[in-house]
Amino acid sequence: MKTVVITGASSGIGLEVARILTRKGFNVLGIGRSEINCNRAEEKILSENPDAKITYFLADLMQQREVIRVAEEITLYLNQKSNGELYALINNAGCVRSWYMTTEEGYEQQFALNHLAGFLLTYKLLPALIKAHGRVIMTGSESHKGIKVHWDDVMLRCRYNPLTAYKQSKLCNILFAKGLNDRYAAHGIRAYVVDPGLVKTDIGNKETGFLVNLIWTLRKMHGVPPEVPANTYAFLCKQETPPDGLYYYLCKEKDYSRQITRENADRLFELSERLCGIKYESPVCLRPEQHSSKHEGVMVK
Ligand SMILES: NC(=O)c1ccc[n+]([C@@H]2O[C@H](COP(=O)([O-])OP(=O)(O)OC[C@H]3O[C@@H](n4cnc5c(N)ncnc54)[C@H](OP(=O)(O)O)[C@@H]3O)[C@@H](O)[C@H]2O)c1
Repeated sequence: MKTVVITGASSGIGLEVARILTRKGFNVLGIGRSEINCNRAEEKILSENPDAKITYFLADLMQQREVIRVAEEITLYLNQKSNGELYALINNAGCVRSWYMTTEEGYEQQFALNHLAGFLLTYKLLPALIKAHGRVIMTGSESHKGIKVHWDDVMLRCRYNPLTAYKQSKLCNILFAKGLNDRYAAHGIRAYVVDPGLVKTDIGNKETGFLVNLIWTLRKMHGVPPEVPANTYAFLCKQETPPDGLYYYLCKEKDYSRQITRENADRLFELSERLCGIKYESPVCLRPEQHSSKHEGVMVK
């Protein structure tokens, strides 16, 4: 049975992806930050499909030490129950903010959760992904278009705009997927981004202020149910031969921003490595059994 890790699997799009993948026979490891939401999600999946293979892990992925801890728990699980192999990692957890808020490392929260958490988790699970010739799927957004990465102030400390921070984090999802493909496609790993469209979830109603809450409540009324984008993740996981594209919407390739270049992808990779205190090893050196799990400390930038 193929094992898939999904972050943000306790509600919204991630929960639907967990439901559909368990129905299709995958062993799903969901990550969520709230015990109550994870238990509720697990009960929902099992009540519809008592044979579903679903296990939840708790972690606040906003904090790097939590990403590292849960990655180590999952690696242990994979070594014991899945021959050390991870077939797919879906970096989906995300948030919206109304104000400049930081993590314990001092990083802007949307950048930290929407981009850096997936970057660090993928690094930690890379040996298991390499072993399975696995797939990495990011949840992106159409909103990445019409924006550039603010290289000289990536946390937007000088002039904070929460929408710009969100859009930039979604641009980073695609740059990271490209960076992974540039480095590891020849070694069997494929990375993708799913654009879910406008989806009826509560993302803009969590930890946001009155205005963002109100705008999102009105906007999400026009959204599709999470089952709609969930099909695209299932499509990318089910294909025996990994599809060639990078950015997918409704199971089809879609155009993305011209900011997605090798130069920008490399630049983001190096910056993210520094912000996470890690160094992705060269694919030729990286064999699962040799990979070091050492985390070298975090540098606030
Ligand atoms: N909804 C849309 O229209 C839309 C459009 C484009 C892209 N997206 C992207 O889709 C992804 C999923 O969003 P959604 O719309 O499904 O929203 P959602 O229902 O709020 O789901 C977000 C998930 O991430 C989890 N999460 C939030 N903060 C976390 C943290 N610190 N640590 C661990 N997990 C955390 C949430 O847990 P809880 O259950 O505890 O809240 C939830 O499981 C995001 O990356 C978002 O940017 C959404």
